[in-house]
Amino acid sequence: MRIFRFNEIDSTNKYLKEREDLKDYDCVIAKTQTAGVGRRGNVWVSNEGMAIFSFALQEDKNLSLEEYMRLPLVAGISVLGGLKKIENLDYKFKWTNDIYIQDKKICGILVEKIRDFFIIGIGVNVNNDDFGYAQDKATSLKNITGKFYSTEDIIFCIINEFKKYFSENWEYVLKEINSYNYLKGKEIEIIKYGESLGSGIAKDIVYEGRLKVEIDGEEKLFNIGEIHIKNR
Ligand code: BTN
Repeated sequence: MRIFRFNEIDSTNKYLKEREDLKDYDCVIAKTQTAGVGRRGNVWVSNEGMAIFSFALQEDKNLSLEEYMRLPLVAGISVLGGLKKIENLDYKFKWTNDIYIQDKKICGILVEKIRDFFIIGIGVNVNNDDFGYAQDKATSLKNITGKFYSTEDIIFCIINEFKKYFSENWEYVLKEINSYNYLKGKEIEIIKYGESLGSGIAKDIVYEGRLKVEIDGEEKLFNIGEIHIKNR
């Protein structure tokens, strides 16, 4: 596992995507990013004090597309598991892969594909208390406990959890994920391509990684990446 460290970089995901000599579990860690990328092309505000990193996972041709579709969920539960080892708080898993605590987001995950690698980029709010435009919707470990943490300890803990969860039986991993399901029982609004499909009550995450939602008495399944959900 090679580790590349930067004080400042445009984006750790972009850095790995541009390396021609990528190896499995290459990892890049930065103190800040000038052009951090979020999901749906959003800007990811990357302030000092955050754990900002990306690592590469080489595609194994023996695994199916279905197994790789689970990567965002596996990454999410790995962040939750890693954070729990550092500070045992009441974290929740918000489908598809946000980690929440006290109803606020504490990390963001972006999984991308380049050649035969998946790039897993993670930003965790650790010692920072400035969350940019998401100020009222985000929190950090330090905000909650008043303590300072080693961001590298957190990063290596998360990567170790990822290695563990990625090789685990999916049914076991899914059970873990469901035990932290933030949305379960909540009324959520389903938004597809910017348009509201109505609202319903979120249920479990099912085998294929889809979210079950009860809409007007009928259970419907939604795919990872297909919809955007808004808590009502
Ligand atoms: C989200 O929108 O919630 C996902 C945010 C992902 C941010 C991380 S920070 C490290 C890595 N580098 C990037 O440019 N993005 C990811």
